[in-house]
Amino acid sequence: MDKQYIDQMIKEGRESMKMPVEDPEYKSDQDLKLPQPLLAKPAMRSVSIDLPIDFQNLPIENDFLKIINTRQSIRIYSEEKMSILELSYLLWCTQGVKEIRGQNYATIRTVPCGGARHQFETYMILQNVESLEDGYYHYLPMSHKIECLSAQQDLKPFISIALGDQVWAAKANINFFYSVVAYRCEWRYGIYAHRVALIDAGHISQNMYLAATSIGLGGCGVGYINAAVLNEAFELDGEEEFMFYAFPVGKRDKDLKLNEKDPYSFIR
Ligand SMILES: Cc1cc2nc3c(=O)[nH]c(=O)nc-3n(C[C@H](O)[C@H](O)[C@H](O)COP(=O)(O)O)c2cc1C
Repeated sequence: MDKQYIDQMIKEGRESMKMPVEDPEYKSDQDLKLPQPLLAKPAMRSVSIDLPIDFQNLPIENDFLKIINTRQSIRIYSEEKMSILELSYLLWCTQGVKEIRGQNYATIRTVPCGGARHQFETYMILQNVESLEDGYYHYLPMSHKIECLSAQQDLKPFISIALGDQVWAAKANINFFYSVVAYRCEWRYGIYAHRVALIDAGHISQNMYLAATSIGLGGCGVGYINAAVLNEAFELDGEEEFMFYAFPVGKRDKDLKLNEKDPYSFIR
C-alpha cells in the first residue's frame, strides 16, 4: 500500500464517520418504496437447536453499579465447560428479539439499533459447551435457536488465525463473530447507513460485556479480525455480508494460571 492510497483510505474513513450534509433531493431505497430486506438471515441448515430460557436458574448479579464497575476486558480463560444456558443468556442479552413491529417491519431487540434495522448476524465457534458439539454455529434470533453449520474438533489454530494471531481467544468457550448484512441498513439509511452501523455495533458489544460480567464470565471485544478467513468459514460472500467484529467469552481463570509453555496463554 503506498502512502497516497493510505492517505485516501484515511480520508474516506473519516468521511464515513461524519454526518453527511442533508440533501433534500436524496432518497433512500425505503423512500423509493423498494422492497424491504429480510429482518434476519434465514436458517442456513435444515436442523436447528432449541435454547433454554430459564435464566432464573443462572446466578445473575443484580447490583447494576457493581456490574458496571467490575466490567473489564478478560483475555484469560480456564477452559472449564460452559452451560448451554449461559450461551443462551449471552445470545438473548445481545440480539434477542422481544417484539416484531408492524407487518414484519422491524424487530425490537434487547439492544437498541438505528431505525431498528438490526443489520448484524451472530455466528459462533463453540468449544466445550454442554450438550453441543464443538464447531461453527449461527444464531436464529427470530426463534432464539442456533444451528450447527459444521461440527469440528481442534478449533484453536483456526480461532487464532481468524483473530489475527490473538492466540488467547482460542481458549474461549465461545467466540462470537458479528457480520454486517449491509443492505438491511442501507435500504433505510443509504449514505448514512455505515455511520449508524458503527454506532450500533457498540451497543451489542457493551451488552455482551455487561451480560458476561453479570454471570461471572469474562470476554473481550476484538476489532482486529481476519475477515477473509472468517467470511469463507461462515459461507459469507464478503460483499453483501461480511465479518466485522468478534467477541470471545470464556470461563474466567481466577488463578490467572499463566503457563508459558501453553501457546494459547495470554502474555501481557
Ligand atoms: C471496538 C473494540 C475493539 C477491540 N479490539 C481488541 C482487540 O483486537 N484485541 C484486544 O486484545 N482487545 C481489544 N479490545 C479491548 C480493549 O483493548 C479494551 O476495551 C481497552 O483496553 C480497555 O480495557 P477494559 O475493557 O478492560 O476497560 C477492543 C475493544 C473494543 C471496544
